[in-house]
Amino acid sequence: MQQDWQQQINSAQELKTLDELRVQLLGKNGLITQQLKTLGSLNQEDRKTKGAEINALKDLLTSAIEEKKSLLEQQALELRLVNEKIDITLPARPEMVGKTHPISKVISDITKYFSQNGFQVFDGPHIDTQEHNFDALNIPPHHPARQSHDTFYIEDSDEVLRTHTSTVQIRTLRNHKPPIRFLAPGRTFRSDYDATHTPMFHQMEGVVIEENINFAHLKGTIIDFCRWFFEDPNLKLRFRPSFFPFTEPSAEVDIGWSNDKWLEVLGCGMIHPTVLANCDIDSTKYQGFAFGMGMERFAMLKYGINDIRAFYDGDTRWLDMYGFGSIS
Ligand code: DAH
Repeated sequence: MQQDWQQQINSAQELKTLDELRVQLLGKNGLITQQLKTLGSLNQEDRKTKGAEINALKDLLTSAIEEKKSLLEQQALELRLVNEKIDITLPARPEMVGKTHPISKVISDITKYFSQNGFQVFDGPHIDTQEHNFDALNIPPHHPARQSHDTFYIEDSDEVLRTHTSTVQIRTLRNHKPPIRFLAPGRTFRSDYDATHTPMFHQMEGVVIEENINFAHLKGTIIDFCRWFFEDPNLKLRFRPSFFPFTEPSAEVDIGWSNDKWLEVLGCGMIHPTVLANCDIDSTKYQGFAFGMGMERFAMLKYGINDIRAFYDGDTRWLDMYGFGSIS
């Protein structure tokens, strides 16, 4: 009989069944109570043995029920844990999240890089005088460089939409004396429109003027910068002799790209003594170098964007793909 009960306890699948069994066996009118009631009719000797037997059975059943109970409770808990698990892989409800435009990203990354090397940032207006945009930069009237800039002139005005950020060289150097290092990022304008040119684009100008600055400083600065920017410590670079009226000597810098292709990324040179003189800087005391680069070109190369016009289409699907979120 004892084995029967034990079997029933063991095979109980639910806490409810187990509790019914408990009532049946150990309850007020249960089996054990009933058996205890029969003791009264026995003689003292038998009562003693029988009583001990019944109590032993009671203990046995009680612990069997307890054991089974905690097992069933454990199983129930495990089941709940499985069923109530939160699926954290579910996508969040869609929200309108803005992204940083690749041009802003490139400008801010480059600015951070140079600011670690003591460069300040200066700004200038988009509409500027021809004196700032050309004359003071040693580009005289009728010089072919003026024509090659596809300038937007303003009717009945001496002003132009600045064709390069080099205007900020003049503006800054007339107000801040060397030694000085600075950057001038910003919008520039030329009448041009195709897959690699838009009438508005962005340049970043860099200037260093100190005593004893020479071409080696320029080279080292540009090489380190390009290798950092393109995340390639072995990036090949080529300084190709070139001409800019505001630098002497001048160079254009190409980077080695896939399949032995060279791609021009910036113009640079030692600042022309005439430009220094135009800003009241003694070129026998101070020398300097400058560089100017197109931000679109840098962004296109780094992020694999092949049509410059996409930067300005304002297509949010494009920005979702090429923009930068707070995590990226
Ligand atoms: N201003 C030049 C351009 O728009 C780029 C440039 C070349 C800037 C050489 C410089 C420089 O500061 O030194 O084509």
